[in-house]
Amino acid sequence: MRNFAYCVYLSCCLFSCNDENNSNDLTHIPYTPSEAYIIQYPDSFPIPTENPENKRTKAGVQLGRHLFYDPILSLDSTISCASCHKPEFAFTDGKALSPGVGGSLGTRSSMSILNAVYFTNGLFWDGRSPDLIDQAKQPVENPVEMHESWPNVEKKLKRSKFYPELFRAAFGINSKSEITKELAANAIAQWESILIAGGNSRYYKFLRKQTAFNSDEFEGFQLFFNLDPRLPDAQCGHCHTGRLFASSNYFNNGLDSANSFTEFKDPGRGAITMAPLDSGRFKAPTLINIHLTAPYMHDGRLGTMDEVMNHYTKQVKKAPNLDPNVANLRISEAQSRKVLSFIMTLIDTSYLQNPDIFSPF
Ligand code: HEC
Ligand code: HEC
Repeated sequence: MRNFAYCVYLSCCLFSCNDENNSNDLTHIPYTPSEAYIIQYPDSFPIPTENPENKRTKAGVQLGRHLFYDPILSLDSTISCASCHKPEFAFTDGKALSPGVGGSLGTRSSMSILNAVYFTNGLFWDGRSPDLIDQAKQPVENPVEMHESWPNVEKKLKRSKFYPELFRAAFGINSKSEITKELAANAIAQWESILIAGGNSRYYKFLRKQTAFNSDEFEGFQLFFNLDPRLPDAQCGHCHTGRLFASSNYFNNGLDSANSFTEFKDPGRGAITMAPLDSGRFKAPTLINIHLTAPYMHDGRLGTMDEVMNHYTKQVKKAPNLDPNVANLRISEAQSRKVLSFIMTLIDTSYLQNPDIFSPF
């Protein structure tokens, strides 16, 4: 009996005298499930399907916002997601290649994450990540990005003055030990899903009959989508498709010449599917707010939209899987300028009016 009492005493002590364990508990912080974070999508703009297992809430968005802007996710606290994805550049960084921890450079150019919630058929230039939750786990452990380990990040988040409370508010966790990379990624994905742009562009206003195009923009629109049989086809609309001017398909748009599939410096999609035909193929990214995301292409090799048009009209290189839609592009310089005028109607910077997209720090 005495032994039993001693045991009870000892185990109580183990649980309550232990500092680590005490501070682990979060149940003293009041918790009420957070309200949904509602977005008003402009008329005729597509509405993304919500992930039923990761419903967007106000507290989830706020947690994701903190994590996105916090260098705590990197090895030496120098790099946050926002180092390479800045709001003023449509969440790219204005550089061909983006420096990660210690200034190390990868081989790919940062991508816009506006509207990334729509791209459920492959994220990254090669489409290797299936969705935002999966994607958000990758930069932390990428040696040329944040160069950290998730177990370490989890430790730092548990020790933080404010993250345990933010995780409890977002996900109702009862103890710090429930802070995981999965919940962190869910929160980042919730925040990213508020980054919507395009619906307030002149193009969408044109679709809603709220504005008219000038003659250059209108001809550019016809060239882009091949709408007038009297005009040549500028081909763009075959690959930069749909309401977001993007495609989840992968193409070779003629950036590098190659005699065989093994010659591409960056095999792109080919390294993911291992199909030789996919070598040198990349995702056709969105053209919404393209004026903010220079330099262009997967390695940032083209500095301006004029250079992009010059590429498509004069510089397309031969390769066995060169897409036929770029192989035979025949438009004049004047027509090329009109295509560009049309693309400039895809500007929509109204996303910058939502204070929740900026750093909370
Ligand atoms: C060092 C720079 C850097 C950092 C830090 C970084 N990214 Fe990126 N991001 C990139 C580059 C480069 C790509 C394209 C990489 C590729 O295709 O291989 C990219 C691609 C993406 C994409 C894919 C977009 C699309 O349309 O396919 C998303 C989403 C994204 N990043 C989110 C994040 C998040 C969230 C973080 C932080 C957890 C982060 N990034 C940290 C540089 C960075
Ligand atoms: C055969 C499909 C195809 C056609 C046709 C096409 N593109 Fe592309 N586009 C792509 C692909 C694929 C990429 C990415 C290539 C890469 O980086 O390796 C791309 C990249 C771009 C980029 C750079 C995007 C960025 O974020 O860096 C711009 C701008 C662009 N295209 C505009 C156009 C215009 C304008 C036209 C019509 C003149 C056009 N495209 C025709 C497939 C196509």
